[in-house]
Amino acid sequence: EADLESKLPLKGKKILITAGPTYEAIDPVRFIGNHSSGKMGYDIAQSAAEQGASVVLVSGPSHCKVTHSAIELIPVVSAQEMFDACHLHYAKVDVAIAAAAVADYKPKTIASQKIKKSEAEFSIELEKTQDVLASLGAAKKNQFLIGFALETENEIENAKLKIQKKNLDLIVLNSLQDEGAGFKKATNKVTFIDKNFSVEPMELKSKEAVATDIVNKIISHFNA
Ligand code: CTP
Ligand code: CA
Repeated sequence: EADLESKLPLKGKKILITAGPTYEAIDPVRFIGNHSSGKMGYDIAQSAAEQGASVVLVSGPSHCKVTHSAIELIPVVSAQEMFDACHLHYAKVDVAIAAAAVADYKPKTIASQKIKKSEAEFSIELEKTQDVLASLGAAKKNQFLIGFALETENEIENAKLKIQKKNLDLIVLNSLQDEGAGFKKATNKVTFIDKNFSVEPMELKSKEAVATDIVNKIISHFNA
């Protein structure tokens, strides 16, 4: 059995994956979040582990479960925590994949007590969060870096801009155009675009199957 395992294509490779939403605190009981289930990132982690990789999975709040013993789960809540956890591991990994739906903005200040309702209108001042993926791109040495993009217009053009801006090797463009694709769905319609801007549209398929396609891209990268 040990002999079989040593032949797995990603044996000896370390992979960092971000997954899930982030929650940005407003006060002790409230936050800004989103509907990401985390499933895409957890499915990639499972598929990579099955191919022999050791995986560090940095995940925002999610109901998804980790079962494979080669996956180390690092639970985080906010974008800042995700940033810190990723940079703690990034120097040691061969591949990093950003599948998390990181909040783009967070409250400028977190109220220390529960905010009481008073005026008829109420607003919260927001500031940008850290871009975890862009920071990994800026710190890149030899890592193969994969990002996701969710676009609703000028999809391919915007995804190409993200490849350049974040110094990526591959981007997985998520299409909302098609019925079965999206946040809470079990399926995804993706297009792969590499750093040479070669565009490869994929069929609508389960998130498990998309995860397998992504892991196959990683295997091809190491075999090239
Ligand atoms: N991402 C990240 N940290 C952020 C925002 C995004 O790591 N603060 C990562 C996501 O995990 C994804 C990629 O960046 O892999 C693209 O996310 P997306 O929301 O599509 O793009 P943004 O750069 O946030 O730009 P916008 O939302 O304006 O399109
Ligand atoms: Ca965003």
